[in-house]
Amino acid sequence: MTQDELKQAVAQAAADYVAQHAPAGSIIGVGTGSTANFFIDALAPLKDKYQGAVASSEATRIRLESHGIRVLDLNEVDDIPVYVDGADEIDSGLNMIKGGGGALTREKIVAAVARTFVCIADRSKLVGTMGKFPLPVEVIPMASAHVARQLTKLGGTPVQRAGFVTDNGNLILDVHGLAITDPKGLETQINQIAGVVTNGLFALRPANLLLLGTAEGVKSIG
Ligand code: A5P
Repeated sequence: MTQDELKQAVAQAAADYVAQHAPAGSIIGVGTGSTANFFIDALAPLKDKYQGAVASSEATRIRLESHGIRVLDLNEVDDIPVYVDGADEIDSGLNMIKGGGGALTREKIVAAVARTFVCIADRSKLVGTMGKFPLPVEVIPMASAHVARQLTKLGGTPVQRAGFVTDNGNLILDVHGLAITDPKGLETQINQIAGVVTNGLFALRPANLLLLGTAEGVKSIG
């Protein structure tokens, strides 16, 4: 199977999960990225069952609306039974690195509201220790040099993502060379640097369930 076929398989498994676990009339949280895009396509046939979706990025909002799925502002919503999103890396504790697409802050906000976070990923995303994928950190533009110096002190090599501005008007520093042995501790530490909006570690709020696409089929972990 190709990587896209694995992504499609987990996306369909996530739509099946939503159909079984999200009550009719509820609102679905929808992530960002190529795997989440397959999920949006798989969710489209269910659109009349649900009130709508909350999008974790402008790109996701546009794709949802292209399928005729109503997109609600998060401030109008007080309950999201299920949030489905991809990851750049995930470990056996279901801690993740996210933000390869730059949507980490909105993803973290939607994940905070959601009761269940379902991560959809192909086999290549499951790792022993996170950090091979550069950790994205969203920063307020005027603070980027200060934040970069602090990230260097933590042992990483921050590189500003070229030509990229987030949906919130900020910059992304991709931090190379971290071996993340304490994901919760590092997530907390980086978020305390003045000028950081948030970082792409999802350890304080990890996934609840991983649907992993493998050559042997979709595995449920968690
Ligand atoms: C978006 O900002 C990310 O958090 C994505 O969820 C992550 O990059 C996974 O994307 P793919 O499904 O495209 O690999």
